[in-house]
Parts: sequence; structure tokens; C-alpha cells
Amino acid sequence: MSDKTTASIAFIGAGTHATQSLYPNIPQIPEFKLVAVCDMNHERADHWAPRYGAPAFYDVETMIDAVAPEGVCIVGPAEMHHAVALQVLARGIPVFVEKPPATTLAGAIELADAARASGTWGMVAFMKRFAPANAVVREFMDTDGFGALSTVGLIHGSGPYGDLTAMMYFNGIHMIDLGRYFGGDVKRVSAISYDQGPVKAVMSTWEFTSGVVGTFNMNSGHTWTDCFEQVYLSGSSCGVLIDNGRASEVMSNDGRFAKGEGLDLYGWSRRYYVSGNMSGWGSGGHYTRGYWGELSQFARAVCGLVEPTPTLEDGVEAVRLIHAMLDSIAASGQPIEL
Ligand SMILES: NC(=O)c1ccc[n+]([C@@H]2O[C@H](COP(=O)([O-])OP(=O)(O)OC[C@H]3O[C@@H](n4cnc5c(N)ncnc54)[C@H](O)[C@@H]3O)[C@@H](O)[C@H]2O)c1
Repeated sequence: MSDKTTASIAFIGAGTHATQSLYPNIPQIPEFKLVAVCDMNHERADHWAPRYGAPAFYDVETMIDAVAPEGVCIVGPAEMHHAVALQVLARGIPVFVEKPPATTLAGAIELADAARASGTWGMVAFMKRFAPANAVVREFMDTDGFGALSTVGLIHGSGPYGDLTAMMYFNGIHMIDLGRYFGGDVKRVSAISYDQGPVKAVMSTWEFTSGVVGTFNMNSGHTWTDCFEQVYLSGSSCGVLIDNGRASEVMSNDGRFAKGEGLDLYGWSRRYYVSGNMSGWGSGGHYTRGYWGELSQFARAVCGLVEPTPTLEDGVEAVRLIHAMLDSIAASGQPIEL
């Protein structure tokens, strides 16, 4: 284990998601020392860099030469993630890359290969793994109170998308990774779709390598202000329902079911709500959605304190699952092996 406590990290991208959901976490992460804000849009870089006490840059190579970051976060348009991550990885620097890591399976594989070839690593911004409601359940699944996992049910409703591929690459990918977080690798899927106007939907069954079975139900029939998400996990000793990433309900004979790091569980009966211990960031905030957790994990991984996960390989497997489901849809629901 490393005794390094601070990592010098640069941020590429100062757009909406970066500045609204990610940057506000940085001052709350002791290991994260922001050393540059880089955006090809000069106004954005100049506006945000001084607010976080870092110098502004407009070009990736110039920024790396000037500040020699130990890690780089890349949060831009989907097409840019792959190109810029390749640039950074080629310099041997670990990356934190927003989803989707690439817009093709070949691109996602190329990123994972590039990291290995440069002797470094990358994380993909699958923040749901760090949402406390999910994290405490994952911890509980390793206890006798839960027993052996048998089924994973995933439901997600988003705002409208132009096509099924976009819905899966830009939104479904989060839920797909969450399914792998709870159930592990998937070996076979079948899927059918609904495609009428702005409403797209995918209904899929998954067979995990472990023998666990699952369902994935993603639709874009909601608006962007009423997105919906539920996870149901059945064990041999109890079942767990995670409602909208905020409330975790365990149906078992045990009492309090998980401890969780740096987090409060409160509630009654066997229904627990999660909230962060960061004042002002109540439910629905940066902490409960997992944005703080994913950036903390990256900074701590750059310090060598924790494993860098979810990895670029997890990104590859999520994209592979997207294509397996789309291929099954094209084949009228025929099972596709991964
Ligand atoms: N995980 C989540 O919950 C979540 C939510 C929303 C968006 N996102 C993802 O975040 C990403 C960014 O979304 P957004 O809405 O903030 O986009 P945005 O367009 O507001 O911001 C992207 C920024 O990247 C900059 N940029 C593009 N190419 C660049 C380059 N080569 N070098 C430097 N800067 C460059 C642009 O100038 C822009 O400022 C998207 O990929 C999206 O999928 C994730």
C-alpha cells in the first residue's frame, strides 16, 4: 500500500456535466489536487479554472507538458473521450473517462489495450457503483444475511432518444454496468425492442456466467425530470429492492443490514434510506448519486490507496453487452453469446 495522500489531477472538459455534477466534489476529496482545467472552449476554461484555483489550458498536449499531471479526468462529447484518452494514455498517465468510453466496441477495446501497452490504467465513470444505496447493498450481498444471489432485475426509464443505439450508449450503459456490479459477467442475452416515435425500449434477459439470471428493462418513455430506476436482487436468505438509487429495502429476518463507509443509514422497519454525511448535499445530490465516490476512487487509485475500478475493461464489457442486445433484437430475440 502506498503512503501517498495527494494526487495531482487535471480535468479536460469544462462543460455542463463536468462543472455541475463533478467539479463541486473536488474540494471535498482530500486526495484530489486539481492542477489544471483544460477546455478547447477558452471562455469555459477561463471561467471555471480560477473558481477551483487551477490554471486554464485550451490544448491537451500543452497542458500535460506544463503541469505533468499524475491523473487526468476526461469529460467531453462521447466521440472525444476515445481520442483524448488515447492521447493521455500514450503519455503513461491514468485516465478517468466519462461514459461512453468510446462510440464503438472496437474503440472501447482499443482504450483498454492502449492502457496496458503504456503500463497504466483507466477508470470509466460508472457512478452508480458509488451511489451509497447501491454500495451498501453490494456489501450486504457478501454476508450470510443475503445468501447466494439468484436473480438480478434492472429497470430504468429515461427521457427520449432518437434511436435505440444512442439510448443504450448514453444511458442504458449505466444500468448495464450496475447489473455487472451486482451479478458479475454475463454469458448470454436475448432481447426484443419497442420503437415508436421518441419512445424506445429494450426488454432483455441475461444469463450470468455464475448461473444467476437477470432482466434488463430500459425505456425512454419518461421526461428528463422524471427518470426512474429500480433494482431487485434475490438472495437465498432475502430479497433487496433499491428504489431510485435512494432507498434500499431489505426483506429478511436480520436487523440493520449494512454499515457503509462515511454514510448514514436511517429509517424504520427494514427499509433504509441513504444520505451522505456532507452538509447541503442531501438526497439527489452529488454524493447520493455517486459522483463524489467515483472521483474519490480515482484520486485514491492514483495515490495507490485503492484499486482503480470500474476499469476500462468494465467499459469494454458494458459496450459488448449493448451490442449483444442490439444483435439479438436484430435477430428477433435469438440468444447471443458474449
Ligand atoms: N454520468 C452522468 O450522469 C452523465 C450525465 C450527463 C452527461 N454525462 C456525460 O458527460 C459528457 C459531457 O457532457 P456535457 O453535457 O457536459 O457536454 P458539454 O458539451 O456541455 O461539454 C463538453 C466540453 O468538452 C469540451 N471539449 C470537447 N473536445 C475537447 C477537446 N478535444 N479538448 C478539450 N476540451 C474539449 C467542449 O468545449 C465542452 O466544453 C458526455 O459524454 C455525457 O455522456 C454523464
